[in-house]
This record gives sequence, C-alpha cells and structure tokens, in this order.
Amino acid sequence: MQFSERLDRLTSSLIRELLALTQQPDMISFAGGLPAAGAMPPLALANLPPALRQYGTTDGEPELRAAIARQLTGLGRACRPDQVLVTSGSQQGLDLVAKLFIDPGTEVAVEAPSYLAALQAFRFFGAEFAELPLTAHGIDPQQLRETLRRRRPAFVYLIPTFQNPSGVCYDAATRTAVAEVLRETGVALLEDEPYRELVYEPCERTPICAKLGDAAPWMVMGSFSKTGIPGLRIGYIAASDDIHPQLVRIKQCTDLHTNRIGQWWANEFLQSADYLGHLDRLRAYYRAQRDAMQAGLETHFADLARWNRPHGGLFFWVELHEALDERALLERALARKVAFMPGSAFYANPPARQGRMRLNFSHSTPEQIDRGLRVLAETVRETSLPAGRRRIADQV
Ligand SMILES: Cc1ncc(COP(=O)(O)O)c(C=O)c1O
Repeated sequence: MQFSERLDRLTSSLIRELLALTQQPDMISFAGGLPAAGAMPPLALANLPPALRQYGTTDGEPELRAAIARQLTGLGRACRPDQVLVTSGSQQGLDLVAKLFIDPGTEVAVEAPSYLAALQAFRFFGAEFAELPLTAHGIDPQQLRETLRRRRPAFVYLIPTFQNPSGVCYDAATRTAVAEVLRETGVALLEDEPYRELVYEPCERTPICAKLGDAAPWMVMGSFSKTGIPGLRIGYIAASDDIHPQLVRIKQCTDLHTNRIGQWWANEFLQSADYLGHLDRLRAYYRAQRDAMQAGLETHFADLARWNRPHGGLFFWVELHEALDERALLERALARKVAFMPGSAFYANPPARQGRMRLNFSHSTPEQIDRGLRVLAETVRETSLPAGRRRIADQV
C-alpha cells in the first residue's frame, strides 16, 4: 500500500497514549486538559428545531456566527459575522490553517513551549519551527522582531491568555509590543484563545488581534470546549478578509460543515440568561481546584521545584530543580497511579535539559490533588536518588 509521504511526519500524541491509561478508575490524572464533568452546563436539546436535521452551510449557523462576531467586536477586534467560520472544535481551525499555509519546509513561529496538538498538526504538513521562548510575561517582542525579519515565517501561532502548557498570560505591554511588531512586518497572526473565560484573578486579556486593526492579517480561534461541552466539538476561527474565504473552501472539502445540533446548542448557551452566571460558577469551581493545587505544591514540592500560580486556565507548569529524565519519572508515577504530562512534549525542538511537568487541576478533586502531589513528590525524590539506592527504594 502506498500512503502519502506526509504520513511519515505524523507523530502519535503522547497525550492520547496517556489518556488511555488514565481511564483506569484508580488513576489520579494531572495529564489531560479535561473540563470537570460536574462543571459542565446541561445538554438540553428538547427545543431543537427539526429543520436542523438537514445539511447546513460550511460557514456555520448565522445566529452563532453573529453572536461570535459581536463578542469579538466587544473585545476590540472589529469583526463581521461573515468573517466567522464555525469549526469542529478549535482543533479543526489548526488543521485548516496548516492546510492553507504550510508546505514542506514552511516556517511557523511558535512559543516554546507550545500546544502539543498544534505542533503536531503543523508538523504533519511539513512545518519547520522558529521557537520563541516564553517568559512570565509572554514572548520577547524584540526576539519576535528579529525572528520575523530573519526567517519570514508564514504565520505566528500564539496562545496569549492562560497558555497551554505554561499558564502564562501575556501582560498589556507585551501584547501591545507584539502587535506593533506584527504591524511592522505584516506577518499573519494565529491567536488561539480557548481558555480566555477561565479567569480566576483580574488580568489583561485584550486579544492581540484587537490591536492590529487592518494593518496585518489575523486569525483568532475560540472554543466552547472549556466553558461548555467538549463532546459537541464546537469552536470557531474568525479571520481577516484576505484569509477567511480560503479557510471556508478548505473546510468544504474537509467535512462540509460542523454539526448543526452542537451549533444550535452553543448559540442557546451563549444567549441564555444564565450564561454569565454559569461562567461565574465555573470560575469559582476551578479557582478552588487551582488553589488546592497551589497548596499541595507548597506542601509537597517546596524544596523540589519552582512554578507560578496561574491566574486562569487549567494548568500549572512545574520546573524541577533537578533535570530528571521525564519519561522515567512518568513511568514510575504511572506505576503509582499518578499521571502528568512531561514538559518536553510541548517543545517543537525538545530542550536538552529535562525536568518539567504540566499538571492539570480541573479534573481531580482537591483531595485527589493533594494525594496525587504527595505521591508525585515521593516519585521525584526516588527518581533523583543515585541508581543503587533507587533500586532499593523500588523494592520497598
Ligand atoms: C491551546 C489549545 N488550542 C486548541 C485546543 C483544542 O480545543 P477544542 O478542539 O476542544 O476546541 C486546545 C485543547 O485543549 C488547546 O489547549
């Protein structure tokens, strides 16, 4: 059988492999980014209009596109409904953008670390990566300027608000400076915002694309997976006029259109009188879990690692003082029924120094968070023992 050459670039996702293991009932999983089932809104479909059983348009349901355009315009990104494309999760937006921009060897600028499944989607089409290291405030705008001048990437992929995996939220000065560089160079921005509503302390969340006006091409993606129901697979990508029609044509030959039932539900959800109330409850729920993980890290990891308490999103990014082999640590942790995501998985070019973990706090109870962190800290201590003493520790 002859498959496409592209298939050789298809790396299997460590997250997907791990998720299979983490389905075990006694596993405490800090690995995925799953919303808590108990925090999801109800799936009420009783009033679904029967007409929605028919095929729909590729762009998406008009009411939902209009609601998304209003939201973006309210955030400062002037946007018309006809610039919005509803997608099957924001993950599909990444695939469509990859198909539109990437040939083998095309450069894409990405944060380091970045969202694993975006790197996979871009790599599948042959992307080469220019990495932009993240600090606590975001990427360095001067480094972005130099990278764009030197390597001319097809687009810059950023997750400025509660970044996956690092939890970083770009500050106002960085957002403004990044927009300035994009306006100067005219390189397209792909801004990925699935976590923007999961905010636990006030912080700057103005989309960078809102600061571009019409001076540079822009794409912004959002999702109903983190605030709504991920199983419905509803997301969107809005884009400048030079990009949007191309994305629609590519989606046409991908899946014709996103499922209309989920789109109807998403619009009802957005328009419902309780939408803001739901967001408040969701934030309170996750804030308590974020605080439980902060407390657990202080209790069990104070002498082992450093981390920043995220102001939103679903993850802590933990850097161990010791450069431990992450796969070895993961295997030992899994044997003790605790899962985490090794940090190296989130780099386009994995760094030589290991010892980072992404820890999700939305999917475990505060009690599980404390217990899981205690076990993980024990595992870190044992893994850092010299080989001889470790063998003894493994036996007890
Ligand atoms: C940064 C980022 N982008 C996109 C996605 C895809 O989300 P979905 O396809 O469920 O909208 C995720 C999911 O975790 C994510 O973390």
